[in-house]
Amino acid sequence: MKEETEKALRQLEAEAVVCKRCMLHKTRTNVVFGVGPADAKIMLVGEGPGFTEDQTKIPFSGAAGKILNELLREAGLRREDVHVTNVVLCRPPQNRDPLPDEIEACRRFLEGHVSIIKPKFIVALGRIAARTLLGKHVSIGREHGKLFDFTYAGASFKLFLTYHPAAALYGAETKTRLQADFKKLGQIVKSMV
Ligand code: URA
Repeated sequence: MKEETEKALRQLEAEAVVCKRCMLHKTRTNVVFGVGPADAKIMLVGEGPGFTEDQTKIPFSGAAGKILNELLREAGLRREDVHVTNVVLCRPPQNRDPLPDEIEACRRFLEGHVSIIKPKFIVALGRIAARTLLGKHVSIGREHGKLFDFTYAGASFKLFLTYHPAAALYGAETKTRLQADFKKLGQIVKSMV
């Protein structure tokens, strides 16, 4: 089962690395495909690769990744156990927000990740991931730390909303909220997995 899932992911990756469905292919160094176990119970979805990720091909391997790793550790979760991916797989120039047509062009890959891995939990990191998964605007300030029953790409899971880890770089208060959200997530995961 895990082997089949792994094979399906590698097929999806082979499609992604040659993708030219949006203009981001012109400026990327690499396509940054999701990383983590094919049978992960938890999937984290960020916004899009930054400079470091574009170079290393590893999602959340730069400054935001350091914060994410710290948040996971404090929550008693291991990064090696979670699958990490992004709404768009190619870096938007100057780390701008991905445009609606870029998100649309990449949707097949996010849907592919979710339908292949079928995680029990998906954590939307920030408003762009939340909006893409939910299909509507969400206020992370109001909805963070909440858990929803949700179905996406034919898979049903618990959707947890929180801030983007990079937000912790800009405000101590947001960092405290992120830490509290991740601790809550860790407890929920332990009680349900
Ligand atoms: N920010 C994201 O949203 N994703 C990454 O992979 C890195 C930074």
